Amino acid sequence: MTIPIKNREGIARMREACAIAATVLDQLKPLVRPGITTQDLEEAGRDHIARLGARSACYGYQHGSRRYPAHTCISVNDEVVHGIPSLRRVLHEGDIVSLDVVVWYEGYVGDNAYSVPVGAVTPAIEKLLRVTRESLELGVRAAQVGNRIGDISAAVQTYVEANGFSVVRDMVGHGVGVSMHEPPEIPNFGRKGSGDRIRPGMTLAIEPMVNLGAYKTKTLSDGWTIVTADGSPSAHFEHTVLTTEQGPEILTVPRAAARVA
Ligand code: MF3
Ligand code: CO
Repeated sequence: MTIPIKNREGIARMREACAIAATVLDQLKPLVRPGITTQDLEEAGRDHIARLGARSACYGYQHGSRRYPAHTCISVNDEVVHGIPSLRRVLHEGDIVSLDVVVWYEGYVGDNAYSVPVGAVTPAIEKLLRVTRESLELGVRAAQVGNRIGDISAAVQTYVEANGFSVVRDMVGHGVGVSMHEPPEIPNFGRKGSGDRIRPGMTLAIEPMVNLGAYKTKTLSDGWTIVTADGSPSAHFEHTVLTTEQGPEILTVPRAAARVA
């Protein structure tokens, strides 16, 4: 499948969608503290998406016969991604929580995620957060026109494994634009020089999912929540990135609400 190239109009719209996704994500981060539930984060995210005139791309998202029931994905500790917010899920000091916000705005999708510590966490978890965040930066930096998709994958994997962690194999990053998932797939593991050539005008969701333990995952019986098979904590950071002749540009940067509205 060929990778969609966005024109000026598409890029302008991607900027808007991504700015909204980033603004919402940014406002969720400081809400994270011991005692709140993942449903509290969901409701704050839901309301803020609506306030900015956008729609959640997660709500009602269809996978097989199931529809995702919430506006955000909130994944705690061993939950890698696609955790369903719940009133029963209370955050405790020492937890980590991945916030994943994907919005539709005027026909385009912005996708981003960030993992946040709940109060004080162990040094090992602090390192997991730092290494995963840095692996995203390295992945973004590898998204240069003329490189290949595998260069992103290799940059992430090499750094993560050098730090003693593992990259999830079952879930991958992806192109994003007029739908949440477009070609190409962007694995967080792979060989330098492999995969499609990166050209200007691609919009790529780069999203390392990194486990403290082994890379294997399983899906919970709710049909959505992906957890680590060994129960170890997992972190997740994601940006939507535009490829340009001048280098990769992160589109998921928050903007003052007044400018988005
Ligand atoms: N960022 C996630 C992804 O790219 C969002 C999934 S929304 C859900 O897969 F509906 F599938 F949960
Ligand atoms: Co994504």
